[in-house]
Amino acid sequence: MPAITVNTLAQRKQASEPIVCLTAYDATFARVLDANGVDVILVGDSLGMVVQGHATTLPVTLDDMIYHVSAVVRGSENALIMADIPFLGDADPATALAQAGALLRAGAHMVKVECGETELPVVERLVAAGIPVCAHVGLTPQAVHRLGGYKVQGRDPHAAAELESLAARLEKAGAQCLLLESIPETLARAIVHSVDVPVIGIGASPECDGQVLVLSDVLGLTPEPPRFACDFLAEGGSVAGAVRAYAEAVRARSFPKHDTHTFR
Ligand code: KIV
Repeated sequence: MPAITVNTLAQRKQASEPIVCLTAYDATFARVLDANGVDVILVGDSLGMVVQGHATTLPVTLDDMIYHVSAVVRGSENALIMADIPFLGDADPATALAQAGALLRAGAHMVKVECGETELPVVERLVAAGIPVCAHVGLTPQAVHRLGGYKVQGRDPHAAAELESLAARLEKAGAQCLLLESIPETLARAIVHSVDVPVIGIGASPECDGQVLVLSDVLGLTPEPPRFACDFLAEGGSVAGAVRAYAEAVRARSFPKHDTHTFR
């Protein structure tokens, strides 16, 4: 059992103590994150882009996820490990259950599912099987072709109302955590204050209960970083220092900054 559990995440929301989340895909970086203040290590399917060099996350397979989850598990002790269900792994509840089961058997403690309306029964099924779920809404990168690119979601009032309602229904379906990606700050704030479960943001709001970034963005290694990224390496002076600087900035709510890293 890691030191950080789903109960810790819930308590952090109650206590207004921000949750620090960062991606890692191997044991070496997991060890650095675990030792330098990261609460949740996300083994994201962003590994398809960051590690494998693809243009999207779509080519990532369950076997890829299991390989990287197993490596991260070997490098970490305290952090809660969250793993993405890869593209089409949540196409129906039975498939999602098999994939989530495999990820938990590899050592993950929670799965992340990119959610629209159709994933509500998936979340219910996983939760009924005792699997903690983080529901990812807003910009869901596995839907990049349907969305027409990596675009901010929920900008018009109708889309914003739909996302707010979806968040509430995902909480009701049993999701123990929400992740909001690339939505306007006002909408993110409304969702954070309307649900009881912790809400982790990326390109969302400084008022989220936690923040997540992709590790290569924190280390300044991404050629064209997204607006919500921030290079902490210069400030931190080393990889461990950059991770510590990120964790401190999230806990102090000095990252993300209004407008610089968020959207209107
Ligand atoms: O795959 C990933 O790393 C993610 C983050 C961008 C939240 O989903």
